[in-house]
Amino acid sequence: MTALLTAHGVTKMFAGITALDDVSIEVGDGEIVGLIGPNGAGKTTFFNCLLGLLKLDAGSVRFEGRELSGIPTHKRARLGIARTFQRIELFTGMTPREHFLVAERVRNGRGALWKDVLFLGRPTSAEKERAQKMLDLLGLAPVGDRSVESLSHGVGRLVEIGRALMTQPKLVLLDEPSSGLDRHETEELAETLRGVQREQGVAILLVEHDVDLVRNLVERVYVLDFGTLIASGPTSSVFADSAVRRAYLGDLV
Ligand SMILES: Nc1ncnc2c1ncn2[C@@H]1O[C@H](COP(=O)(O)OP(=O)(O)OP(=O)(O)O)[C@@H](O)[C@H]1O
Ligand SMILES: [Mg+2]
Repeated sequence: MTALLTAHGVTKMFAGITALDDVSIEVGDGEIVGLIGPNGAGKTTFFNCLLGLLKLDAGSVRFEGRELSGIPTHKRARLGIARTFQRIELFTGMTPREHFLVAERVRNGRGALWKDVLFLGRPTSAEKERAQKMLDLLGLAPVGDRSVESLSHGVGRLVEIGRALMTQPKLVLLDEPSSGLDRHETEELAETLRGVQREQGVAILLVEHDVDLVRNLVERVYVLDFGTLIASGPTSSVFADSAVRRAYLGDLV
């Protein structure tokens, strides 16, 4: 396995509280890896460290062998790291297609600011084609021209994921994509993500509370608790680990 992302000894303190303590994680090219743990374990903090939104107190993050310290967030995005947010953040009044067109334009470096690109009308045929392909890939074509606020939570999640994928990342960080989704929507999400990984070869680091989704989608998983990695390995053996079951998964597994 080629390591795409290697985080080594990542440590982050907030006002004397250790939110992450010596966390080391690897994600291979095109791999789907899970990161699980209870509320407040440090999962979102870890994402923010990978993205350069937070400065590490110790440790290092390498992407395709390149040390990322000192590289600002927008440049990390250009290197191929994309993310979605724990709470959906979409532009009201815009359609899924428009979200994708804006992301495409930003990727191409046309339109310096989001507010510019919003009013840029007339996308090129290549841009339109890429947006259409993303709508098709995510099964969003039937709702591509509806305003996002008229769509369900589950569809909103897919729009967020599509927007992240439009930047053609090598790695996408998904922060609890199933939150707010019902069981059926969650199953569809798993199916869609599998398709995305198959078609685009993109690696996914998935933060999730939904045990079924993790089990369905992920071969390898890391378990964080109070900022410390307490288990890692193949999903089936981690979920079988009695300490993990007792402490974090309760009756769910
Ligand atoms: N900007 C911040 N300032 C101070 N403390 C913070 C900050 N961000 C996170 N923390 C603390 O760091 C710890 C880890 O929080 P984090 O949000 O990373 O957890 P999480 O695993 O994502 O939890 P959840 O499952 O609820 O999303 C928590 O104790 C949180 O209160
Ligand atoms: Mg979080």
